[in-house]
Amino acid sequence: MRLTVIGTGYLGATHAAAMAELGHDVLGIDIDPDKVAALASGRVPFHEPGLDELLAKHTASGRLRFTTSYAEAATFGQVHFVCVGTPQATDTDSGAADLSYVNAAVDALAAHLSPGTLVVGKSTVPVGTAHRLAGRLPTGTELAWNPEFLREGFAVQDTLRPDRLVMGVASAAAEALLREVYAAVIATGTPVVITDLPTAELVKTAANAFLATKISFINAMAEVCEASGGNVATLAEAIGHDNRIGSRFLRAGVGFGGGCLPKDIRAFRARAQELGAGRALAFLGEVDAINLRRRQRVLDLARELCGGSVAGRRVAVLGAAFKPDSDDIRDSPALDVAARLHRQDAQVTVFDPKAMDNARKAYPDLEYAATSTAVAEGADLVVHLTEWPEFGRIDPAMLPAAGRKIIDGRGGLDPARWRAAGWTFRALGRP
Ligand code: UDX
Repeated sequence: MRLTVIGTGYLGATHAAAMAELGHDVLGIDIDPDKVAALASGRVPFHEPGLDELLAKHTASGRLRFTTSYAEAATFGQVHFVCVGTPQATDTDSGAADLSYVNAAVDALAAHLSPGTLVVGKSTVPVGTAHRLAGRLPTGTELAWNPEFLREGFAVQDTLRPDRLVMGVASAAAEALLREVYAAVIATGTPVVITDLPTAELVKTAANAFLATKISFINAMAEVCEASGGNVATLAEAIGHDNRIGSRFLRAGVGFGGGCLPKDIRAFRARAQELGAGRALAFLGEVDAINLRRRQRVLDLARELCGGSVAGRRVAVLGAAFKPDSDDIRDSPALDVAARLHRQDAQVTVFDPKAMDNARKAYPDLEYAATSTAVAEGADLVVHLTEWPEFGRIDPAMLPAAGRKIIDGRGGLDPARWRAAGWTFRALGRP
C-alpha cells in the first residue's frame, strides 16, 4: 500500500520506517527541512535503538522517502497517518493539549485530498478531537483513530510487535483499509480492538493515566516508607508477585517524565473538566503532585547531605534523559533536579550517555563532563537520576569524588556495594 506519515518525530519516524518494513511504500512528511534531509539520507536525528538500521535499510530499498510537500503527500498516499506532537499548551494553566500541530497537519492535507483516501490519527489527543477533525475533511474521504502505544527505547519493537492494535473507525471500509495496512502484524496474532472514534482516543489517554497512577502509587508508598522506616523496593517486589497487581511499572524513584505521561495526564484532566466529568479524574491531580514531590525529595536530601545548603557545593548528576535508552529530555526529572540545584547555587555537572547535546542546548548554564567518572571529579555529592545500565556498573571505589555521598534517585544502585566502599548512600523510600 502507499502510505504517508505526517510528522517525523519519535513517533512518526518510527512508524514510517516500520510501515516500510511491513512492505508498504511510505512517504514521510515534516515541515522541518533539516529533519527531512537527515531522514532522507538515512540518519535518525534522535537516539532510538534499532531505528537507524531500519531507516537505512528502507531509504536504500526505495520503500521509504521523505518530503516537506503536503501536495505531494496527498496525491501519493491511500492512507495518511497523522503523527505530529500534541504538547502541553503554554497559553493556559489548565494543562490542556496544544492541538495546533494536529489541526494544521489535517488542514494542510485536506486541501489536497482526493476521494477514497483515509486519514488516520495516531497522535495522543483529547477525546472529541477526531470527531471535530472529521468535519474538516473533504467529502468522500474519511477519518479513523489508531492510537500509538510505543515506548521510547523500544519504539521499533513496540510498533512491529505491539501488544494490541486499536482502531477507532466510522465505517467498514475504514476498518478494512486499516486491517490491510497491519495485515502482517495481525497475522502474528496481535489482538485487534475495533471501536468508535471517542473510545479509541480514550484508550490511549486511559492507558497513560493508568501507568502514571501506578508509578505515583509506588512513589506514594515510598513516602510512607520514608516516614515509617519501611523499604519500598521490597514492598514493590512483594505486592508485584500478586499477578492482579503485577511487578512492572512499580519502580519507585524520582518519578515519571518525558514527552507523554506528564502532559497526557494533565490534558486528560483538563478535557474531563471541559466535559463536566472533572470529578472523575480529580485524582490525576494527586498523581501529578506525588510525582513532582519526588523531585523535591531529592533536593531536600541533597541539602541534608550537604549540611543544610547546596550553595557552593559541587554536585555530580548521573543522567539527563527522562529515562534510559533515550536522548529525550522533555520534562526530564534528572534535568529538572539538576537545574533546581543550580538555582540554589550548587556547582552542577551532568553526564548522560546519549542526551548530552539536547541537555546542553536546553540547559547551557549547567556544566557537562565527558564520562560517568569525570563527572564525579571533586564532587561533594553524586546524584543518580536516570537508570542507564552503565551507572549500575560504576565501581564506587574508583569515583574521584571529594565527598563520598550519593543519592540514588532511581533505586537502581546496590546500597551494600556503595556503603562497603565507604559511601553515605541515600535512596528514595528505603533505608
Ligand atoms: C509512555 C508509555 O509507556 C507509552 O505506552 C506511551 O505510548 C508513551 O508514554 P515513554 O514516555 O516512552 O512511554 O516512557 P515509559 O517507559 O512509559 O516511562 C515514563 C517515565 O516513567 C520515565 O521517566 C520512567 O523513568 C518512569 N518510570 C517508569 C518510573 O519512574 N517507574 C517505573 O516503574 C516505570
